[in-house]
Amino acid sequence: MRKTLPGLIALAAASTLALTACSSDRVDNPATDSTTGSTASGTELCIPEGSTIGVSLPQKTSENWVLAEQLFNDGLTAAGFEPIVQFGNSGVTEQQNQIDAMVEAGAKVIVVGAIDGSQLGTQLEAAKATGATVIAYDRLVKNTEAVDAYIAFDNYQVGVLQGTALLEGLAERVGDGPYNIELIAGSSDDANAMPFFEGAMSILQPKIDDGTLTVVSGQTTFEQVATQGWKAENAQKRMDTVLSGFYAGDVALDGILSPNDTLARAALVAVAQAGKVTPVITGQDSEVESVKSIVAGEQYSTIYKDTRELVAQTIASIVELQNCGEIPINDTEQYDNGVKIVPAFLLTPKIVTQANAAEVYANDDTLGPLTAG
Ligand code: GAL
Repeated sequence: MRKTLPGLIALAAASTLALTACSSDRVDNPATDSTTGSTASGTELCIPEGSTIGVSLPQKTSENWVLAEQLFNDGLTAAGFEPIVQFGNSGVTEQQNQIDAMVEAGAKVIVVGAIDGSQLGTQLEAAKATGATVIAYDRLVKNTEAVDAYIAFDNYQVGVLQGTALLEGLAERVGDGPYNIELIAGSSDDANAMPFFEGAMSILQPKIDDGTLTVVSGQTTFEQVATQGWKAENAQKRMDTVLSGFYAGDVALDGILSPNDTLARAALVAVAQAGKVTPVITGQDSEVESVKSIVAGEQYSTIYKDTRELVAQTIASIVELQNCGEIPINDTEQYDNGVKIVPAFLLTPKIVTQANAAEVYANDDTLGPLTAG
């Protein structure tokens, strides 16, 4: 079935587990406290047709964010809303100002992919004060009550899949251990970076402890391996330093844990420039260049988080709110944002390697031909 956005929205609306009406699980929907009109067919509406919906996106640090912008604009317009979709390209202050402007414009729902999930409390509290609903998209919003739900792929599970793939790739491509590896994490201001890292280390740490894996540089803490701003040049620079400092001569670098594709490709540049053979390296986001690299047998794995499904789930949740319903939730335990457990709807990420790439992407025409080159 070719996945079109309207089709995915309808599927998300039909197949999600709606939250029970139980007060302890109910996601606040101030709009349902009073109906604000109805459709021509008389359906009660809690969010009027044509209402403004704000979508505040972080920065274009990977292709999934670029795709999300287009999908939100198209999907919200098709659903009869007035979208304001903006990137905080120049950083946190710009994103704060954009959210303030969305509130000023009367947005009934604010969807936010935070650059820094801990620095939006003031803006989102102002949004809640107007009766708007706040949905954290892909990345959790932290240290504030002013977030009603979190819609994302299970990002701890992303890390578990990455750690598992690294071990499998080492066995498959290097043979028996022990192995030399290095670790890379995402940007420390991205609320996802720690769950990615913790998920992976839940798999890798026992193997470090038993001597199967050695992190030759000794850089094993999140703070030591985080990559500010998800910038490729920061990852490449750190790998250059690690390679020149710890991998002189014929010391092999067998594997690298990379949290996403952009940083994986940057690390591979550093490895090639150091004259080392391609290590087993993980990634995330199914970026076009990385999928081609995986099909060609270079990068070992990526993660498929179908942005169309994530956007569709978010828009279907907004349609639920418009119809005086509640945001569908399937997890009420995992995501503690520092002041509350944020009710979440978690989608399932998929690991992709050369063995299953063609099958996984069979219905995704956003990638184009999968052949290398
Ligand atoms: C994360 C997101 C990843 C990747 C990364 C860098 O928050 O979940 O899929 O896009 O940002 O952009």
